Amino acid sequence: MSKPDFQIDETDGPAQTRAWVLHPDIKNDNDRREPIPALAEAIALAEALPNIEVVGSAIVPLRTLSAGFLFGKGKIEEIRQTLHDEEIELVLVDGSVTPVQQRNLEKAWDVKLLDRTALILEIFSDRAATREGVLQVEMAALNYQRTRLVRAWTHLERQRGGLGFVGGPGETQIESDRRAIDEQLVRLRRQLEKVVKTRALHRAARAKIPFPIVALVGYTNAGKSTLFNKLTGADVLVKDMLFATLDPTMRSLELLDGPEIILSDTVGFISDLPTELVAAFRATLEEVLAADIILHVRDISHAETEEQARNVRDILTSLGVPSETRTFEVWNKIDLLGPAAADAVRERSLRDDAVLAISSLTGEGLELLQTTVAEALQGALRTAELSLTFAEGRKRAWLFAQEVVLSETQTEDGFELEVRWSADVEAAYQRL
Ligand code: GTP
Repeated sequence: MSKPDFQIDETDGPAQTRAWVLHPDIKNDNDRREPIPALAEAIALAEALPNIEVVGSAIVPLRTLSAGFLFGKGKIEEIRQTLHDEEIELVLVDGSVTPVQQRNLEKAWDVKLLDRTALILEIFSDRAATREGVLQVEMAALNYQRTRLVRAWTHLERQRGGLGFVGGPGETQIESDRRAIDEQLVRLRRQLEKVVKTRALHRAARAKIPFPIVALVGYTNAGKSTLFNKLTGADVLVKDMLFATLDPTMRSLELLDGPEIILSDTVGFISDLPTELVAAFRATLEEVLAADIILHVRDISHAETEEQARNVRDILTSLGVPSETRTFEVWNKIDLLGPAAADAVRERSLRDDAVLAISSLTGEGLELLQTTVAEALQGALRTAELSLTFAEGRKRAWLFAQEVVLSETQTEDGFELEVRWSADVEAAYQRL
């Protein structure tokens, strides 16, 4: 009997795809990022994909962009040689790549290529856990594909001299692809509407919960889930992996010397978040819009912490978070700073009410965080139900004068009132 050509090693996990990460560093780009941390982030993103082995990476300095190939001829050949020697199957380009560039580079290098948007979409689709998350990612991916069809189409048109009325096989194919995508989008949108309606019902039910909502937001890997677990004693997936949390997680907890609250952990943000995804995750981030307090968690030990914070603030603004929502910056991971830098951060947080210095790992600063939130919540509104007897007319009149009554029903013994008030008003009521 002949020996088999190969043997499957049962102990091996799924096959790893050998990948290479390229960060194009465009000199005269207005939004140019520091290339070294940008490349590090791109590698972390790549590693967030399942079954990927990042074998190597490079920063590619560029003066101008080549419309057809992105990179210049010499560079393409140099990279081709490396990819060939390293037996690379997948190249991840940390930037946007047009469909034409993608096709040309895939052919020149004999690899599969993903740009930054496609990569983030892949990660999101891998992580989405709820029905809504899955639908939203599918829609975002289809929208992305659709714009690429349109762009490929524009390119074809230009090649023919810009007269779009001469039909050809290319046009027919693209048109029918586009129609198929549109039909699929309509189907998904309908399913999503149903899911969102159910969610709205759940949210309405939650609105009855008389606890204020505190939302954790932050750049991916800032440490939101670690803080969430530390505060709630929950066991939310914590990984040194980007986008470990895609769907919002909510838990109730009682603050030190403070009220019971609902704490929600949300998807991490990232710079250049594809616009398709900002739109898609609007619904997922609704908890943030409804939050009484936002805790913006930052990895203060990260080289790009300022840029990350700016990105998070921009995304919050574009989501429409009301400007009056009380926001604290939680400067996390101070244990990773040197002693002098850590002291500077601690001092800053003493001077600035809006900054809290913590380490979710060692627990430093967590007590102060809780008491600060509890204090800030004094002004937050919560709902409560009260029963008043007919004899308590004075209290009833007082509540109406404070304009806190949401609804009232008369019963045999008196009144049932639903009120929405702050802790201060509640305390004043108790003293009546
Ligand atoms: P996404 O799900 O990507 O949004 O990430 P996240 O913000 O929820 O971050 P997560 O809590 O998953 O933490 C990311 C990594 O940072 C993990 O390896 C944590 O162990 C680590 N980490 C979190 N807080 C601290 C801290 O205070 N100090 C140190 N040294 N590491 C921390």
